[in-house]
Amino acid sequence: MVETREFLKKRRSVLARNMTAPGPDDAQLRELLSIAARVPDHGKLAPWRFVVLQGVDRAKLGHIAATALGDDSVAEHYERAPCVVAVLACPKEHPKIPRSEMILSAGAACMNLLTGAQSMGFAAQWLTGAAAYEEAVLRALGGAQGDEIAGFIYIGTAAEAPSERARPELDDVVRFGLAD
Ligand SMILES: Cc1cc2nc3c(=O)[nH]c(=O)nc-3n(C[C@H](O)[C@H](O)[C@H](O)COP(=O)(O)O)c2cc1C
Repeated sequence: MVETREFLKKRRSVLARNMTAPGPDDAQLRELLSIAARVPDHGKLAPWRFVVLQGVDRAKLGHIAATALGDDSVAEHYERAPCVVAVLACPKEHPKIPRSEMILSAGAACMNLLTGAQSMGFAAQWLTGAAAYEEAVLRALGGAQGDEIAGFIYIGTAAEAPSERARPELDDVVRFGLAD
């Protein structure tokens, strides 16, 4: 579809610090989460979970992150957007399907959530930050041993329109045919 292609060619993330309210309402959020869950997933394992952070939960998680990192500057990070969705990669033991494929599926879920939100006209950004690698943060999100935080998808309204950023030259990242 031409419209989809034109959207994908132009979509841009908005920095979380340039976001303001409103975020998605309950119906929009449900729609976005079902888009996020509609991703390629080898073996139909659904190796991801979504944790929606709104209101006071954002400050609570910020406090946990700041304590874990010993860095007060991250305490208000999750409050930059009205809605933050933590995407957890939850790989499972499987005799044939490698863990890396499950992590990739979680990445696809992040991307679907990001582009879904942007296609609805919201500002959105995919961030991890040092806190994403803290056990205490994973636990607070309900993550289990072996789970990973694939990303925090910030969703809100753009306070200012983003400018374009540099993109790689296609010829630098594409090869047609095998290596010599
Ligand atoms: C897994 C992942 C983690 C990221 N974490 C951060 C981060 O912690 N801090 C940051 O400034 N950008 C981070 N980024 C990059 C932002 O998403 C950035 O806004 C993005 O490069 C904008 O690109 P776009 O306009 O093509 O969406 C991350 C990207 C990915 C894919």
